[in-house]
Amino acid sequence: MNTKELIAAEIAKVVPELEQENIQNLLETPKNADMGDLAFPAFSLAKVLRKAPQMIAADIAEKIDASNFEKVEAVGPYINFFLDKSKISADVLGQVIAQGSHYADQNIGHGRNIAFDMSSPNIAKPFSIGHLRSTVIADALANIIAKQGYKPVRINHLGDWGKQFGMLIVAYKKWGSEEAVKANPINELLQLYVRINAEAEEDPSVDEEARESLVEFNRLYDELGVSFDSYNGEAFYNDKMDEVVDILTQKGLLQESQGAQVVNLEKYGIEHPALIKKSDGATLYITRDLAAALYRKRTYDFAKAIYVVGNEQSAHFKQLKAVLKEMGYDWSDDMTHVAFGLVTKNGKKLSTRKGNVILLEPTIAEA
Ligand code: ARG
Repeated sequence: MNTKELIAAEIAKVVPELEQENIQNLLETPKNADMGDLAFPAFSLAKVLRKAPQMIAADIAEKIDASNFEKVEAVGPYINFFLDKSKISADVLGQVIAQGSHYADQNIGHGRNIAFDMSSPNIAKPFSIGHLRSTVIADALANIIAKQGYKPVRINHLGDWGKQFGMLIVAYKKWGSEEAVKANPINELLQLYVRINAEAEEDPSVDEEARESLVEFNRLYDELGVSFDSYNGEAFYNDKMDEVVDILTQKGLLQESQGAQVVNLEKYGIEHPALIKKSDGATLYITRDLAAALYRKRTYDFAKAIYVVGNEQSAHFKQLKAVLKEMGYDWSDDMTHVAFGLVTKNGKKLSTRKGNVILLEPTIAEA
């Protein structure tokens, strides 16, 4: 029984004129703690009992069995209830101990998925305090929604876009020839790229950069007790961006601006258009995020998609949602950017180059 039920049941015993449920709905939380934890206003009984509310309150307070409470007292037209804190604490703690991690579980989510875009470090760079914040904030949110009956899908949207180029450089160093590349650049680079990828499949050490970073990151994740359901990073969407560009083209949403392809978002109050393709055909961060959003909706049919990313990327996520909305996907309303602020040191942004750093490992150890 919760405390409101308990109080309503006790009042109902001495006020047969009202239903217990009715009484429960009338209970109020007093403005000050010195007026008790919950109060029952006697006004509604004045008509039925044809007495002044003050007198009714005094009557009820006298008749009520106060043994379940610390104190019950009438103050004017109110009956104030002071809960027995030690008894309630004992009840709650007893439940917590009995139910363990399932204490206070709810089933609001009916098993639906909530996608968390979290952590997402860049593999060629050190893991930053910002990535750490994204990791722990998102993991805490994921734990909370799991208790509410949703299924969290923890996605590490790794910044591995540069990986292709890294591999191309390795291939060029291994087998490339300057004359051949100069004579037939696209074809020659493509061949090198295909060859290095084939080799990487046989011999994972070719993929060294990505692998080393991941080993390093995983050590950290283990220490934090965080695990992921997907490590599909930016490179995963390499072959999924054409579709995005096709849909945008079909819907007539792409406009040319200085040779680049953009989506105008003025009607959403967003001043800067979303840059989808550069004049040299290169895709951008947002193009990959668009492909990722489509992929996640299809794969997980998420009830919500939550992006836990620093607030310096707020404009990016506003654009992302708006472009999807323009594409006709109403589920973009289910996407939320959970932003957090920058950690500074001596009032300045952290910078490895400038030596203004807080090292991650000692920070975690200290925490
Ligand atoms: N890798 C990015 C960074 O370090 C964060 C990615 C956030 N997630 C996303 N879907 N854009 O800044």
